[in-house]
Amino acid sequence: MAGRLPAIVIDNGTGYTKLGFAGNREPQFIIPSAIGIKETAKIGDQATRRLGRGIEDLDFYIGDEALDASGYAVKYPIRHGIVEDWDLMERFWEQSIFKYLRAEPEDHYFLLTEPPLNTPENREYTAEIMFESFNVPGLYIAVQAVLALAASWTSRQVGERTLTGLVIDSGDGVTHCIPVAEGYVIGSCIKHIPIAGRNVTYFIQSLLREREIGIPPEQSLETAKAIKEKYCYICPDIAKEFSKYDQEPAKWMKKYEGINTVTKQLFSVDVGYERFLGPEIFFHPEFANPDFMTPISEIVDTCIQNCPIDVRRPLYKNIVLSGGSTMFRDFGRRLQRDLKRVVDARLKLSETLSGGRIKPKPIDVQVISHHMQRYAVWFGGSMLASTPEFYQVCHTKAAYEEYGPSICRHNPVFGTMT
Ligand SMILES: Nc1ncnc2c1ncn2[C@@H]1O[C@H](COP(=O)(O)OP(=O)(O)OP(=O)(O)O)[C@@H](O)[C@H]1O
Ligand SMILES: [Mg+2]
Repeated sequence: MAGRLPAIVIDNGTGYTKLGFAGNREPQFIIPSAIGIKETAKIGDQATRRLGRGIEDLDFYIGDEALDASGYAVKYPIRHGIVEDWDLMERFWEQSIFKYLRAEPEDHYFLLTEPPLNTPENREYTAEIMFESFNVPGLYIAVQAVLALAASWTSRQVGERTLTGLVIDSGDGVTHCIPVAEGYVIGSCIKHIPIAGRNVTYFIQSLLREREIGIPPEQSLETAKAIKEKYCYICPDIAKEFSKYDQEPAKWMKKYEGINTVTKQLFSVDVGYERFLGPEIFFHPEFANPDFMTPISEIVDTCIQNCPIDVRRPLYKNIVLSGGSTMFRDFGRRLQRDLKRVVDARLKLSETLSGGRIKPKPIDVQVISHHMQRYAVWFGGSMLASTPEFYQVCHTKAAYEEYGPSICRHNPVFGTMT
């Protein structure tokens, strides 16, 4: 099929949707996964909205435009990575394809992504919308973690390229540790961590609230988020970091400048300890949440220990980062160090318990940081969908018409290992 148009790759996240054409290094659009609709009195919940379809249904916005539009109710069709409102999701896709990508869905194969532990029903709904509403010729629903693993290949030698690894995907709403062996997700061993970008933002917001005056209250969340993305990093040792700031404040403190959206006046915020305390909650979650105290390094360790013994070493050796909230400087380095400590302590213990008779072979712990981390899932999808093999694994419109949505019910990457 020479001369075919490139496939369209869409990674719908809780916070952001990444959209673009296969073969590119970066998504063409990164927009909030938000939709703004006119809510009339008769149209309330999802079910009645479906029945009450009319011309006003065309009147909606997605992405940043949804957030800016006044008089529209802003909704997020995806929660914790999983689609919750299919009606809104369909409209979100509609504008993504026609208005943003300016593409005809009949002309392109589609690669969509799904979070770990998506349900079979959700895959069927997705297939129904794609094949029936948009009439796409082919569809593949890829697991985000597997795409993220493939994306990390850019930083490795060809011989080291493997689809065995532990993916840490940290976006806005949740962080997942997902073990993958030979491209198969070990579903029963996935771990979920209730700390992600949004929690870091809230924590910074609360730190700023305690001391800063001058941030307009209605802008405090976006200010905290901007400060987080611009200035935050992971430090090796918080006690030392505090004293660095105290000794040389001029060197470490930053000034954030923002504009008050109402008065149009500039305001400025001194950014201090927030810079390293914010993302520290990955390693000391109790700073922000008294109900959850396990550092990310321990969760990663438990996650790998739960896996079959023959994949543990390869997993420790290939821990791959993915998602916006792994972008803090030195995130990978700190995780590697802390995890190594946990692993070494266990080996030491078993040596001691054996009275020194067993000398365990050291375990190689490697956390891979790479250039494509921010949009790793999308980029992995873009790579996959630009290969000829992609067209062979896709579900086609013809198969859909013959067998129905159940062809997408199961994702073959789950199951065999669980
Ligand atoms: N340079 C950066 N440093 C730190 N955090 C960042 C940076 N850039 C983006 N983020 C944060 O990353 C998060 C968005 O990441 P991502 O796009 O991977 O999430 P998502 O896919 O929408 O959500 P999820 O994976 O939870 O469904 C936001 O919280 C954002 O503030
Ligand atoms: Mg994501």
